[in-house]
This record gives sequence, C-alpha cells and structure tokens, in this order.
Amino acid sequence: KNNIEIGLLGLGTVGNGIIHILNHHKKELMAKTGAADITVRKVLVRDLEKQRDGNVTKEMVTTKAEEVLDDPNIDLVIEVMGGIEEAKQYIEKALRNEKHVVSANKDLIALHGDELLALAEENNAEFLYEASVAGGIPILRSLTEGLASDRITKMIGIVNGTTNYMLTKMTKEELSYDEALQQAKDLGFAESDPTADLEGLDAARKMVILARLGFSASVQLDEVYLKGMTEVTAEDIDFGQQLGYTLKLIGLASRSDEGIEVSVEPVFIPEDHPLASVNDEYNAVYVYGEAVGETMFYGPGAGSLPTATAVVSDVMGVIRQIRLGTAATQVNAADKEDTVLKKEE
Ligand code: NDP
Ligand code: HSE
Repeated sequence: KNNIEIGLLGLGTVGNGIIHILNHHKKELMAKTGAADITVRKVLVRDLEKQRDGNVTKEMVTTKAEEVLDDPNIDLVIEVMGGIEEAKQYIEKALRNEKHVVSANKDLIALHGDELLALAEENNAEFLYEASVAGGIPILRSLTEGLASDRITKMIGIVNGTTNYMLTKMTKEELSYDEALQQAKDLGFAESDPTADLEGLDAARKMVILARLGFSASVQLDEVYLKGMTEVTAEDIDFGQQLGYTLKLIGLASRSDEGIEVSVEPVFIPEDHPLASVNDEYNAVYVYGEAVGETMFYGPGAGSLPTATAVVSDVMGVIRQIRLGTAATQVNAADKEDTVLKKEE
C-alpha cells in the first residue's frame, strides 16, 4: 500500500507536535519511506469545542473511538491520549483489527507492554513506542539495534523532564517547588496529573522499559525501589551546592550474577560529573556495555516537538514495514533473545 492513512488518538501536547511534523516534513517523510502520501484521517479527542490546529478540520475530529479503530482505511493508529485502561482497550482493538500501533504511553507500556507486544505479533502488526522513554532521544532503538550485539550491564538515567526542569530551576534560579512545577506544567512537560512525575513513578516506568530492552529480561514495576522528589526542599539543594554537589532524580538499572536491580531516587551528584550538567527538561542515559564500554545519550526528554520526532520516526518504521509486507518488531526480537537465553541456562 502506498497511501498511508493514520488515526490519531489524542491531540494535546504530543498530538499537536505530530501534526506539525507530518505537515512540515511531509516531503522528506514520503521520500524516506517511499509512501505516495501520508495523511491523518481521523483524530480522537474529548472536547469537540476546543480550538484545533489549522491542519485539523472539524470533519477529522471525533469523540467516538470506533470511528478511528473500525475505519478500514486506517492503516496505523497513534496513541497519544495517555491514561491506562481506555488507552489499552483502544490499542487492543486497533491491533485486533490488524492496524499497526505507535504509542508514547509509558504508563501503559510499563504495565502491559508484554501483553500488547504479544497481541501485535498474533495479529501480524507492529507495536512501537520509542517516545515512551526520554522523549526525543532514540534510546530504545539504540538499545535494541545499535547496541544489540553487546551485553549491557548498567544504565543510569535522568529520564523525567519535569523533575529535572524543576530541580534545575530550584538550583539555578532559586524558584520555589510550586513555581518550578507550574512552569513545567505550562511548558507541556508534566503529565496532566503530575503526581507520577513528582513521586518518581514516571521515571520508574521508563527505567523498567529500559531494563527490559537493555537486559532482554522480564522486569516489573513493583520490583523498582522508588523515592520521588516530593520531599526535596530548597535547603537540601543549598546544602548540596555548598559541598559541590547537584541534586538529580536518578534512575539506575544494573544486572549482575545476583540478578537485576532497578531504582529511582534523588541523588547528590558531584558538580563535575556529566550528569550534573544535564539541565532543564533534558534527559540523559548512560549505558555501560561489556564490549562498547561507556556511552551516553543526551537530548530533550519531554515537550511537543522532541517527543513527536520519536513518534513520527516510529511511524516511518511502520510505513517501511507496510511497504515491505513484513511486521516483526525490534522489541519482540529482544523478547525472543530472552527466551533463547533462558533455554540455554
Ligand atoms: P495532553 O493532556 O496534552 O493531551 C491528551 C490528548 O488526548 C488531548 O487531546 C485529549 O483531548 C485527548 N484525550 C485524553 N483522554 C481522552 C479520552 N479518554 N478520550 C478521547 N480523547 C482523550 O497529553 P500529552 O500530549 O502531554 O501526552 C500524551 C501521551 O504522551 C501521554 O501518554 C504522555 O505520558 C506521553 N508523553 C508525553 C510527553 C510530553 O512531553 N508531554 C513526552 C513523552 C510521552 P482534548 O484535547 O479534547 O482534551
Ligand atoms: N512527564 C514526562 C516527563 C513527559 O516530564 O518526563 C515525558 O515522558
């Protein structure tokens, strides 16, 4: 198929970024994938009265999920509405209807990623989610493709843009916790309910996804040691600074003969450590591989356009698969590796 039609679930911060990139980079997207056209056919929202981007007409917008999920013309569904139960039902329906799915929803993937991948495979569909971890940094593809030949033993990450933005503003501009949080909300970095950002759960979900892919292993959210930044005060930050340390919310995933450990907690980092200079909504992930040694991935971890680049790059991957007529996801390949390793043990 040459004319690719997309159904979009959600048109908020990330959804609008996707519309922007699909329109502004359309020629390049078509040239790079070989598609004759790439169009958004339907967009699911909650509120029909909201003013929308000029590229989204009234006819395209709906509040009825079935108009997206049951439309036989739609090849690919992008889920950027957030939440867990409804998003899960919609993704399952899309996959059962043999539509490919791209999602940015780490809440859902950390909890039900394995099930959704299995369902995708059963239905010969793609399920990709690069945007779910570290926004614009192509870290999942780097783990499952670029570093696939290595044995990764440790990942250290600043993977939540909201808390990193807040800690930066509290440290460098002496903003209060509430002022910094308000700015992170206004800039579209925070979740609609920022509790998961602040309590470290968002970072924990992302570390779980990284650990699964980096270690090709089954890692569950309830195995993560978790401490967020809700109790961090200006005094803590000042105290650290006087001693030459910067406070960061750090995710750590490591594997050894004893097993896999994943944690998220505020950590004082020496000011001359590279992670100490990851500021604002930027994220960074250190990856240690036995063969490659140390690598570090750095870039914007939240926000409309950076996140949308990851989503649209996944969309391009799906289009290439549609045009080739194959559908084996990078992530399923990692799962299979785990199965093979377990059998060998
Ligand atoms: P927003 O809150 O900005 O947008 C959500 C959109 O989904 C809105 O258009 C809303 O409709 C629609 N929506 C929500 N619930 C429903 C529902 N039940 N039925 C129909 N439509 C619904 O969220 P974001 O764009 O910030 O985030 C979207 C997803 O991307 C989330 O999973 C988030 O975790 C993830 N993400 C976000 C990043 C960011 O920087 N913001 C970065 C990486 C991932 P309406 O417009 O009518 O309100
Ligand atoms: N709320 C998330 C963050 C969005 O601040 O990192 C990106 O996943």
